[in-house]
Amino acid sequence: MNLSTPCYDLGKFPNVYEPSEDTFLFLDALEADAAYLKSTKPEIIAEVGSGSGVVITALYQIFGTSCAYFATDINPQCCLATTLTSKLNNSRVECLTMDLLINFKPALFDVILFNPPYVVTDSQEMSGLGLNRSWAGGNYGREIIDKLIKNLPNLLSKKGVCYMVLLKENCVNDIVEMAKINGFESEIVIQRKIPGEHLYVYKFFRSV
Ligand SMILES: C[S@@+](CC[C@H](N)C(=O)[O-])C[C@H]1O[C@@H](n2cnc3c(N)ncnc32)[C@H](O)[C@@H]1O
Repeated sequence: MNLSTPCYDLGKFPNVYEPSEDTFLFLDALEADAAYLKSTKPEIIAEVGSGSGVVITALYQIFGTSCAYFATDINPQCCLATTLTSKLNNSRVECLTMDLLINFKPALFDVILFNPPYVVTDSQEMSGLGLNRSWAGGNYGREIIDKLIKNLPNLLSKKGVCYMVLLKENCVNDIVEMAKINGFESEIVIQRKIPGEHLYVYKFFRSV
């Protein structure tokens, strides 16, 4: 299945992350794994940190009206941008300003997508609700990533799967180990070296 990048317009949203190499790698991973995703017959899909909204809107190309689509972002401008992108592409995504997925009821989601702020920074750089929240990941770039991984057992449905962008400096093997302790197997869907970054998209799914 060919997953094209949805149209978007960030003209009114200067504090929203412009789709970049990591975003396009994420789209390539979802395209490559579309057959598997379809085989799980998802009904509820969520993207954490949707930014411009192109990733969750692209999934609408695969599943159309057979799924409900939710997005969250800590930055309120991102929710406006995601809603606009959804509209521009005749999709239907509900975006809420929220920390991760903390206000949803447990075990709701069949698919969770997250291209997190993964850059290694001081923890202080993670303050506020602006563009810095797109990249500032704190210690090992892992402060937000670890929170979501640890909460996966409460967020995903029984058949649920989570796709996440990770950076080599995040110490991916430690993340894989942490997921295992929480009951999840993992696999690399795609990886790419771009100038200055070695990026992965990992898939996390329940151990049988
Ligand atoms: C690297 S950007 C990715 C944006 C978009 N998904 C993409 O792939 O282009 C990370 C996004 O996560 C959001 N974010 C950071 N921390 C968050 C949190 N605790 N809860 C929800 N969203 C968060 C940021 O505001 C930003 O929009």
